[in-house]
Amino acid sequence: MTDKKRIAVVIGSTRPTRICGGVAAWARDSLQEDSDLDYELIDLADIALPFLDEPLKAALEQYEHEHTLTWSKLVQSYHGFFFVFPQYNWGYPGVLKNALDYLYREWHNRPASLLTYGTRGGNKAAEQFITVLHGLKMRVLDTHVEAVITEQDVDDAWQLRDLEGTLRPNRALLRKIDEEMTEALTDSQ
Ligand SMILES: Cc1cc2nc3c(=O)[nH]c(=O)nc-3n(C[C@H](O)[C@H](O)[C@H](O)COP(=O)(O)O)c2cc1C
Repeated sequence: MTDKKRIAVVIGSTRPTRICGGVAAWARDSLQEDSDLDYELIDLADIALPFLDEPLKAALEQYEHEHTLTWSKLVQSYHGFFFVFPQYNWGYPGVLKNALDYLYREWHNRPASLLTYGTRGGNKAAEQFITVLHGLKMRVLDTHVEAVITEQDVDDAWQLRDLEGTLRPNRALLRKIDEEMTEALTDSQ
């Protein structure tokens, strides 16, 4: 048992051939380096929530389904969140919005940042997602990452040829995010 503050690094694509797992694992390792926080991967593919099926809105906190209670407990067990996801058609993956919409108060006041990726870094997805994080009253950190992954970086099956080499330019920003996350959680004491 550790008394370190726990940060969930959320894998936000559930496609069977996704690159998100590798990108998120790399981000987790970069955040974790020399950090006093404990960064843990959580995979929305494992959590496997159905499309939102609660009869009442989450703000009322009268959950009917076991999967919602399990998700609520898991989210409450983390002090902060780092979301990793691709840009899809100028937006962010629906599975991620679904997972957010299941809960409400659980997200409040939690520090949050994100890493998007796409051929131009996924800036449109990042912008929309940040708006939603504000709607959920999360404490959005100053820094986030928009990682550029172009056709030159991937093979014919759209898998990264050199994950470390492609993502390395973003490492300094991840170190900054760890600093901001640490500061946000220290402030909240
Ligand atoms: C439904 C869909 C929409 C996409 N839209 C965009 C886009 O708007 N901008 C972009 O740069 N790449 C786009 N792409 C390419 C993705 O960046 C690329 O497929 C990436 O590998 C997706 O992440 P994932 O493999 O982790 O799911 C799209 C891919 C999919 C599957």
